[in-house]
Parts: sequence; structure tokens; C-alpha cells
Amino acid sequence: GQHLRKVLAPCRVAVITDSTVAPLYLKTVTGSLEGAGFTVCSYTFPAGEGSKNFTTLAAILEFLAEQRLTRTDCVAALGGGVTGDMAGFAAACYLRGIRCVQLPTTLLSAVDSSVGGKTAIDLTAGKNLAGAFLQPAAVLCDTDCLRSLPAEVFADGAAEAIKTGVLDDEGLFALFEDGTLTTAPDEVIARCVRYKAGVVERDEKEQGERKLLTLGHTAGHAIEKCSGYAIPHGHAVAAGLAIIARSAEAL
Ligand code: GLY
Repeated sequence: GQHLRKVLAPCRVAVITDSTVAPLYLKTVTGSLEGAGFTVCSYTFPAGEGSKNFTTLAAILEFLAEQRLTRTDCVAALGGGVTGDMAGFAAACYLRGIRCVQLPTTLLSAVDSSVGGKTAIDLTAGKNLAGAFLQPAAVLCDTDCLRSLPAEVFADGAAEAIKTGVLDDEGLFALFEDGTLTTAPDEVIARCVRYKAGVVERDEKEQGERKLLTLGHTAGHAIEKCSGYAIPHGHAVAAGLAIIARSAEAL
């Protein structure tokens, strides 16, 4: 709450979260926001990529309208990549766009998806096919949240971080080889965010340089879709990175 007061005057904040994160952190976040003078309401949807669709989007938009949020109010995405996408896209659509803050709780959302303003839902035809660019008013990453991540979910984020290591420089990549990601994730997150912020500042709407950030994602998205989203995003991106690296070497 105190951090958000630096960028937002007191207003209503609609915290959007999922059924995994709500029992862990919703009460803490609500208390912190209320303690800083915000009025808080919250909406929780079932966790998982299966929720990243029109039905959930419509439910969130109806909730924002029932709560009578105005353009001076704010949406807060509390959770991982799916929550950031859902809350961000809802904020971009509601009243033709209200502010959104991102509160990432997974490694994947900390190193990648909470930064840069991409929001989307999946269509039957494929992943992330409807969405909007909405730059968050703030991204607040409390790395203590990473302690509650199952190893499988941590690994999802590792894939996106390693992607950034491949794109950025050998210094960042070396942090994956010496174990820094697990012992000092803050340093890895900071470097990934700094790199991504630079790319997005130069090419917000992905006309050129930002396409680099989709390294491994063409095959990765196909793998996710063909598995019926049983293979999570980070694991699919890891496979996609391996496929594109082998192809590049072969060429
Ligand atoms: N996750 C890739 C991008 O934000 O451009």
C-alpha cells in the first residue's frame, strides 16, 4: 500500500487474483492497501490457463461495473502470468481503459510477463490471440512470494529468465550456471527486468526489437495449444528454446 501511494492517489482498487494465490496473499495485500488509504474489493477466478478466456474476462468486467469503478480507480493483478494477463486486459477494456498495477507472485511474472504491458486471452485458434498493450502504472515484486512456489512453477519462470540470459549477455547467462537463480533470485529478476524495460522502451508495440523477447515462443505456443494447455507456458518455452537453438546451430 505504501509503495502504491507513491504513484496513486487514494482510490478504489479492484484486486484480481486466482484460487491459488487468494488464500496465500489476498488478505495481506488487502490489509496493506487499506492501511495506506485505498478502498479495496477483490475478485478471485479459478487458477490455470483454462481460465484465460472470454468467460473469465466478461465476469471480471461485470464485477468492475458492479463495483462501480471509475476511470480514476485502479485494477491490481495479484498473481502469476495468467492473472496479469486477465487483470491487465480487463483494465484495458473497462471504460476503454483504467489504470492497472501488477503484483507478480511467480518467477515467470516477475522476470517477464508483469513488465511491458502485454495483456491477452487465448482463443480457440490459439494462445494470446486477443489482447491489448496497457503499460502498468507500477509493478511491485515482493520476492518473498517466490518461497511459496512449487518447484515445477519456479521452473516455469526459470525458462523465461534463461531466455533473457540468452538474449542479454554472458554475465546474466552465467548466473544460471552458478546457481544464483535459486540462491539470489532478486539479482536475476532485477537484471531481467532492466533488460526487458530497455527493449520495451525502444519498441513498445513489437514492430522490431521486441520480437526478440518471443525467442522460443513460436514452437512453445504450439506445444501449449497441442497439449490442451496441460504443458505450462514456461515448460513449453523451454522446449521451444531447445528447438530453435538446435535449428540455429544446424543452419
Ligand atoms: N513476453 C514477451 C514480451 O513481453 O514481449
